[in-house]
Amino acid sequence: MANAFWRSLFSGRASILAALPWSDDRLLTTQERELVTPSIQQFQLGEGSEGKGLKARARVSALAADDPDFLPALDLFIREEQRHSSDLGRFLDREGIARLKRHWVDGVFRHVRKLAGLELSLSVLVTAEIIAVPYYSALAEATGSPLLRAICARILDDEMDHLRYQSHNLSRLRSLPRSHADFGEWATRSLLMFGTLVIVWKEHDQLFRAGGYSWTRFRCECEVLLDDVASGAITGSAYRRLQWSQSGF
Ligand SMILES: [Fe+2]
Ligand SMILES: [Fe+2]
Repeated sequence: MANAFWRSLFSGRASILAALPWSDDRLLTTQERELVTPSIQQFQLGEGSEGKGLKARARVSALAADDPDFLPALDLFIREEQRHSSDLGRFLDREGIARLKRHWVDGVFRHVRKLAGLELSLSVLVTAEIIAVPYYSALAEATGSPLLRAICARILDDEMDHLRYQSHNLSRLRSLPRSHADFGEWATRSLLMFGTLVIVWKEHDQLFRAGGYSWTRFRCECEVLLDDVASGAITGSAYRRLQWSQSGF
């Protein structure tokens, strides 16, 4: 599957977004507000990366040389992540909750991505997107706000496609000739995943628990998704719908 597929999917989705229920006047209860505020603030910040470092690495990568649709698809993918941030930001504004300008967890993620090559950089992103699946599922379960639940549903739909997209890119990258250092990066992936899970659980455990997650359920879901990304086994509605409606990919 070439990046033409992802370019088409991301650009098509940008033009046909269903409206979120912004006019619904239900605000968070005091209890919900206490529970979700620090957590949404962190994810809103994390989703808003401009991806400058990733784009710079991507421009000089073998994938860019190999596939003319790689860079345009990457650009559209980053815009989808920024849309997640802007939807969460608009939700925070509506609730009168301040947006964060920085947070140490976001700083660590950005720092690791700066040090990494393209493969590790994509692996860091995959880790974040895997964690997004149980996170937004828990967030939706933990609130009765129709708007917040709709925001979570839309992000979850996007993130499942993002996992497929990253799975495709990582598999293409690994099929190309690589340096010794790239194999060293690959060896750090599991450690990166486990360390990130511990940090995210420590920061958001109350929200996860309110959404029905134990540490074991959270870790197991993430590990299953990581295996699915590695084997290309992720399936989902948007992917199947586009495969049926398009040819040549
Ligand atoms: Fe996202
Ligand atoms: Fe994503």
